[in-house]
This record gives sequence, C-alpha cells and structure tokens, in this order.
Amino acid sequence: MTMTEIDRTLRELRLSGISATLETRIVQAQACEQSFIETFSLILQDELDRRRSRLIDRRYAKSGLDERVTLNDFDWRFNPKLPRQASFELLTLKFIAEGANALLIGKPGTGKSHIAKALAYQATLQGHQVRYLEADDALAQYSLGTADEQQKILRTLLEPDVLILDDLFLARRIAPVGAELLQALVHQRYKRRRSIVVTSNRVVQDWAKYLGDTTMSGTILDRLMHRCALLEFEGKSYRLKEAAARLARSSTDD
Ligand SMILES: Nc1ncnc2c1ncn2[C@@H]1O[C@H](COP(=O)(O)OP(=O)(O)OP(=O)(O)O)[C@@H](O)[C@H]1O
Ligand SMILES: [Mg+2]
Repeated sequence: MTMTEIDRTLRELRLSGISATLETRIVQAQACEQSFIETFSLILQDELDRRRSRLIDRRYAKSGLDERVTLNDFDWRFNPKLPRQASFELLTLKFIAEGANALLIGKPGTGKSHIAKALAYQATLQGHQVRYLEADDALAQYSLGTADEQQKILRTLLEPDVLILDDLFLARRIAPVGAELLQALVHQRYKRRRSIVVTSNRVVQDWAKYLGDTTMSGTILDRLMHRCALLEFEGKSYRLKEAAARLARSSTDD
C-alpha cells in the first residue's frame, strides 16, 4: 500500500488517532532505531489517547457546562472559613460512586457555583455522565412544556450519574410545576442512588417558603439530605472584590 492508501484504510477503519500521527511515528521509528513492537505500541497508544479525548469532549458537550472550571486558581485565603477539606473530598468524586448528594449552601459570591462546576468538570474527565443546570431557569422551562415534553425532560434528567442544580431559588419562588419536577427528580434519583449536587444561597429552613409548600419541602429535604455532604459557605463576596478592583483600576486610569 502507498501512504495515501494506508491513510484511506485507516479512515475507513475509523482509526483517526493512528492516521493523525503515523507519519511522525514512521520518521521517529527510523530516527530512533526503534523495534517494531515499540513503534506499534506507540501507534496503538495514539489511537487510545485520541479516543479518550474525544469521549471526554463528547461528555463535556453533553454536560451543559459552559466553562472548564478547576480549583487550580481558587484563592482559599480570601475566605478562610470555607469548607476546603470537604470541597476537595467532593472533588475525589467518591460521593458519585456511593450515590450520595452534596448541598453547597451559603453567602453570595463565596464560590459555591465555582466549586460545583469544578467537580462537574472533573466528573466528565473521570468518565461520568454529568448534567449541569441553572436550576431556576431549568425548572421554569419545564413548567412551560407540554405533558409529553415534561415527561421527556424528567427522563433525561434521571439518566446522568450526577445532576448539578446550580443557584436554586435565586429567583426566590419557583412555579408549582417546577417544584413538582424538583420533587420528582429528588425522589426518583434517590431511588436509583444517583447523585444530585445543589448550590443555593437560601438556607434550607427557608426552602418551604420558596417552594410554596411545607410538605413538599420536607419530602425533598428528607431524601436529599439522607446521604449528603452539607457544605456551608461563609464569607465575603469575591464578586465585590473583583468589582472593587475594577473600580480602583478605572479611577487610576482617569
Ligand atoms: N475564593 C475564590 N477565589 C477565586 N475566585 C473566586 C473565589 N470565590 C469566588 N470566586 C469567583 O467569584 C465569582 C462568584 O463566585 P460563585 O459564582 O461561585 O459564587 P456563589 O457562591 O455561587 O454565589 P451565588 O450565591 O450568588 O450564586 C466567580 O467568578 C468565581 O469564580
Ligand atoms: Mg452560585
């Protein structure tokens, strides 16, 4: 076979990882006087690497995340009382294997969503199916759907290994149909031992008020908190720090 024919064959066999690096590997084999087995291993590894990164890309695209957040540049000194140990414990993702939940509750701008997104992204890297939702928007959207559409949404939200409901009750009250979805999600995922991560700046004692229903709030919290890491976020808003820094910059520019 010529190189062109080899390339075409590799594509037919869907071995695009090998196709992408083959020429380099051939030159390398000659330059480094590698054995056939060494070269062949490298070529196979290229295919595995390509497949793995494609799979991660697909999982990330399906997750609904809009940024690849990590904790690498998170400033733990800014709010020294944050639950640092518990945040890293969550980042190990053991809670997903155990079907446990996590509740990140506390003051605005203290990093709850940042940490929830970081663990969601880490979960996509580790091969989990992840679904990230801005909670209030998603519940409001659901309320507008037909019965069939609502059934479909519920089914798709039961599938992933971990469901992130970010900024729950940011808009204070949610519509009764949205509250019912929340209840169904918590109930059904609890039965399937599939994890939910919730972030909110509303303390759980107030959830009944935002759900407009005390019994519903009781059943939701009961299941959510049965196997659950509860992380409390106390401290100053990082948004205000950033806003103050912007202001300071613009006043020195003037
Ligand atoms: N300690 C920190 N170090 C670096 N960046 C931070 C820190 N805390 C928060 N941030 C950044 O500040 C912004 C606000 O944080 P985030 O959205 O996570 O807050 P939150 O606790 O979810 O607030 P809210 O309750 O209003 O939803 C984000 O851009 C986040 O990346
Ligand atoms: Mg948030």
